[in-house]
Amino acid sequence: MLVLGIESSCDETSAAVVSDGARILSNVVASQIALHRPYGGVVPELASRHHLELINTVVTDALREASVTLDQIEGVAATCGPGLASSLLIGLTFGKSLALARNLPFIGINHMEAHLISPWLSAGRAFEPNVSLIVSGGHTMLVHVRAIGDHTVLGQTTDDAAGEAFDKVSKLLGLGYPGGPEVEKAAHGGNPAAIPFPRGKLNDPDFDFSFSGIKTSVLYWLRKHPESKIQNPKSKIVSDLCASFQQAVVDVLVGKAIAAALAMRVRFVTVSGGVACNGALRDLLAAACRRNNLELLMADRKLCTDNAGMIAGLGWHKLHAGLRTPLDLDAQPNLQLR
Ligand code: KG4
Ligand code: ZN
Repeated sequence: MLVLGIESSCDETSAAVVSDGARILSNVVASQIALHRPYGGVVPELASRHHLELINTVVTDALREASVTLDQIEGVAATCGPGLASSLLIGLTFGKSLALARNLPFIGINHMEAHLISPWLSAGRAFEPNVSLIVSGGHTMLVHVRAIGDHTVLGQTTDDAAGEAFDKVSKLLGLGYPGGPEVEKAAHGGNPAAIPFPRGKLNDPDFDFSFSGIKTSVLYWLRKHPESKIQNPKSKIVSDLCASFQQAVVDVLVGKAIAAALAMRVRFVTVSGGVACNGALRDLLAAACRRNNLELLMADRKLCTDNAGMIAGLGWHKLHAGLRTPLDLDAQPNLQLR
């Protein structure tokens, strides 16, 4: 079954085609990062306008890259939430309209549930029970996934998401947008033990996270050391600060993910979301999994950030299982994963 997937929940316009077994044939992502950079964050009105301008081309490119025609598509999947209402509407309406016009089965996809399967799509492996860490700009959560469509959220952030903390620290330092890659770059060569930033909730028995405390600690540290703000990103003081901040965030993410995997007695830990592009997180999580005899599946970087490959992949599984969504499905900006 050939499934076309569409994603437009935030600032990436994306379309993908998967074939039987959710094998990705194409995964086209048009990023709007450059468009939003001057504003230091995503401007919803600009995002939706650009989704509208890009969606036709992105879908056409996805079909061409997959070497298939629209006539061959047998099902359509589109993100219905969570995300920005005006952005979600573009991809969802496009997907529903296409399904109606072509008389194709349609499925609305929870974007967070799609993140859960992206590491398996990357690895091309059959799904197994796991604990999944989703770390992005909007979410930080640990999920016990027993099977596709059968999962329990173990914990999530009670304030800022991990990516949001990277973005805010980058802004405090004037390093640029999006903050994660900039902070990671600045952290190269820095001493991760230079500043003992707090590891929020690391030793709590639950699986929730908190990253607003560490961001505030960075702010206070900068007030005490105003000279660091005017240094260039390659200076020792800025690289030590970034390395120490990154290490504190990664320690919490790794510590909680391992604790959750051991508590749920699963063999696999998986990770996806934009922050999963971070090299320190990838290295330290891999080392911690090895120490604890856990297998780690990390989504490829392209499948970590928002993309339609994971939407089409989850859509394929759901459509294949006979699930369908009525075409009056509305965008659900606050859709939760339970
Ligand atoms: O998943 P994503 O593309 O979009 C959503 O938020 O849904 O994630 C974007 C987030 C941003 O906060 C960005 O700063 C962060 O992921 N990020 C990183 C890295 N690359 C992206 N954070 C840390 N290190 C990175 N290399
Ligand atoms: Zn996402």
